[in-house]
Amino acid sequence: MTPKVARFLADTQPATPCLVLDVDRVAENFRRLRDALPLARIYYAVKANPAAPVLERLVGLGSHFDAASFQEVSMCLDAGAEPEAISYGNTIKRERDIAAAYARGVRMFAFDSEMELEKLARSAPGSRVYCRILVGNDGAEWPLSRKFGCEVEMAKDLMVKAGELGLDPFGLSFHVGSQQTRTAAYEAAIAKVAMLFTDLVDAGVKVRMVNLGGGYPVRYKSEVPEIVEIGAAIMGAMVEHFGNSLPEIVIEPGRFLVADAGVVQAEVVLVSRKAANDPVRWVYLDIGRFGGLAETEGEAIKYAFRTPHDGTADGPVTIAGPTCDSTDTLYEKSNYRLPTALTAGDRVELLATGAYVTSYASQKFNGFSPLEEHYI
Ligand SMILES: Cc1ncc(COP(=O)(O)O)c(C=O)c1O
Repeated sequence: MTPKVARFLADTQPATPCLVLDVDRVAENFRRLRDALPLARIYYAVKANPAAPVLERLVGLGSHFDAASFQEVSMCLDAGAEPEAISYGNTIKRERDIAAAYARGVRMFAFDSEMELEKLARSAPGSRVYCRILVGNDGAEWPLSRKFGCEVEMAKDLMVKAGELGLDPFGLSFHVGSQQTRTAAYEAAIAKVAMLFTDLVDAGVKVRMVNLGGGYPVRYKSEVPEIVEIGAAIMGAMVEHFGNSLPEIVIEPGRFLVADAGVVQAEVVLVSRKAANDPVRWVYLDIGRFGGLAETEGEAIKYAFRTPHDGTADGPVTIAGPTCDSTDTLYEKSNYRLPTALTAGDRVELLATGAYVTSYASQKFNGFSPLEEHYI
């Protein structure tokens, strides 16, 4: 938690649940990432946290933007981004949204299928397009599965076809899965994309860009590799596979830029046991899976907690949200422990919750409003 966030919480005592996010930390993270990968152009993955103060600060730092929808394209433009700085990076787009983004000046689009390419050729003629390929997601705590990307053989045919359709077959992309904890995942993906890149060049396709996607991890409960280590591994693999003729390099960080800038403060609603002699207490908070903590599904992302009783005796807990839905249980198997003194009314903090929380919150499930947001 940054000192600014701690001060805000102490001075303001905001209503819970809420997210407090320090935009100066976002700027610091942007600089750290730029220093670790100086040859890469940064496209912030807006989906991680689309709040205007975050986008505006990043516009000021010269960031580019990866938008998942026309609405995100509009948010970036409203925040002052130039259309040339926006990539419409979702491989699944309604054709009218492609047309709307094109009308606003966006000229860079992702695809991974023939039908999407045909939509782009019709509604974003002449645009730069890049094909997403499937790569391994081992080591990712929030993997992106097989939903996006295609096999390299298909990508090759599609890139050739993109040129035939009057589009600019600009590049290739991949995503190694979010919260990727292994540098080897980037190295393997780069090796795969480089082979395809060379094949395309040999086939006369004017491919110029490699988009390494997101995945750059942050510290939740466990240590993760430092960004300088990841940057060195990535550049080592790029040089190994591309030699002196490096392509343009794009990265799409989401989590890394915003997660540790934000803290969720919540209130303990109830502490109970299922039997008098049960060692495990159930701690129910006023935020849960439907309040924005969607990445606790499968206990994938393990947030660290702060409580007013830290440093005193603790014991095993199951942690759950406030709704009448049994999937609204955050951690049951991950060996969480919280102070035995914890009681209803205590305020607790969930650290590094600036990414993938606010925009996941449901509108009114069980009547609960989405969490308040404070950008400071
Ligand atoms: C296309 C694309 N780029 C970038 C990101 C950001 O990933 P991360 O937050 O892991 O950096 C995502 C996340 O889902 C994505 O789908």
